[in-house]
Amino acid sequence: MKTLIFIVFFLFVTPVNLTDALRNQVESNEVIMNFPELAKLQGHPCEEHDVITQDGYVLKLFHIPGKRGLPILLMHGILDSSDTWIIKGKKSLAVALANTGHDIWLGNCRGNHYSRRHVSLNPDLDDIFWDFSFREHGYHDLPALIDTILNNTGATKLNAIGHSQGNSIFYVLGATRPEYNERVNLLIALAPVSFLHHMGHPWGPVVKLIPEMGSYFKSHGIVEILNQRSLFYKLLKFLCHQPIGYAICVQGVIFTFFGKDIEELPPAVWPIIFRHVPDSTSIKNLIHYGQVTRTKRFSHFDYGVKKNLVLYNSSSPPEYDHSRVGMRVVLLAAENDMVCRPNDVAILRRKLPNVVRYAVINRTEYSHLDFVWAENNHIYLFPLVFDMLKNYDL
Ligand SMILES: *[C@@H]1O[C@H](CO)[C@@H](O)[C@H](O)[C@H]1NC(C)=O
Ligand SMILES: *[C@@H]1O[C@H](CO)[C@@H](O)[C@H](O)[C@H]1NC(C)=O
Ligand SMILES: *[C@@H]1O[C@H](CO)[C@@H](O)[C@H](O)[C@H]1NC(C)=O
Repeated sequence: MKTLIFIVFFLFVTPVNLTDALRNQVESNEVIMNFPELAKLQGHPCEEHDVITQDGYVLKLFHIPGKRGLPILLMHGILDSSDTWIIKGKKSLAVALANTGHDIWLGNCRGNHYSRRHVSLNPDLDDIFWDFSFREHGYHDLPALIDTILNNTGATKLNAIGHSQGNSIFYVLGATRPEYNERVNLLIALAPVSFLHHMGHPWGPVVKLIPEMGSYFKSHGIVEILNQRSLFYKLLKFLCHQPIGYAICVQGVIFTFFGKDIEELPPAVWPIIFRHVPDSTSIKNLIHYGQVTRTKRFSHFDYGVKKNLVLYNSSSPPEYDHSRVGMRVVLLAAENDMVCRPNDVAILRRKLPNVVRYAVINRTEYSHLDFVWAENNHIYLFPLVFDMLKNYDL
């Protein structure tokens, strides 16, 4: 098992030699629509903004204008992008919100294909571009996105909806830049990842290997994972699109690691999903989440004693202080979420000072990925979201 996981992870990042025939097939250019094109297909005009962070990253922020209530910022999870909120068309949350007149903004964290840009660094050549984790998404990316939205709309606060990592980053923000607690009226946290103590089988062996993988990647100069233009990415996509791909990619990997819900995530939807997912991030981000899981602490990045002492004046990295996250939070969990276990959400709930509502989705099979891609979220999820937006609007 251990060896198998190791091999699979190395395959993700190591260049693969392919025969020419296979190479042509793999690289055949499928036309993939971007966010504004997908929005237009649903009858919504979409603006694009390039947002520059304090440390020079250029982030893509999409905007579907609307007049109802506060602006809403939607933040995707790890290895994902803004597209996740729209790829299922009318069954997607972005479309449901836009159709009811909400003013919605869709952010992209540094490192994914929309935000793989910097004012001076080249992500293909400069390793330092990839020296970030969810800490930088919270400390740098969110403030730049939030300020851009507030400046553009004249609003003093916004509502936020985050999926998975898309809400961890708000806890980093609230704990490290407390002034931003005032600017978030309400955070609706879908699959609220912060503590990962209970992420047991099947993640256990993977998490154990993370330090070894970290050193392997470091010694081989590998800093990015799942670049969409890489040959390996194209090969993976090709594999997942084959009939056998469903067994390997979906049943073997996705359902095992994120929770199985065949009715809500049926075979027919996966080819659509695989056009947009997964997306790139830094190896450092994966390692940081690995540290959170192993240490059972939602802490700053652990650089080892020597550098920790310099950076933090402490041999181990300090925890993010949840008691400083003053913004109102709604926590929505699911029983069959294999990443974000209800037991871990319970810990988060005790630590956050301003949880206004906690709910478990009323479906036993509901999984980590159902929050973004389920067939029937108009039954399971949207009523809760609309209810919260209505109850807590200014
Ligand atoms: C927003 O406006 C304030 C005040 O005019 C300005 O200081 C800040 O740089 C602006 N931020 C962004 C991201 O545009
Ligand atoms: C570093 O930590 C020590 C003890 O933990 C403390 O006495 C000292 O004031 C700290 N230094 C700084 C610069 O915070
Ligand atoms: C949960 O769903 C079942 C049917 O699937 C329904 O009978 C029940 O009323 C629902 N409960 C809540 C709290 O919505």
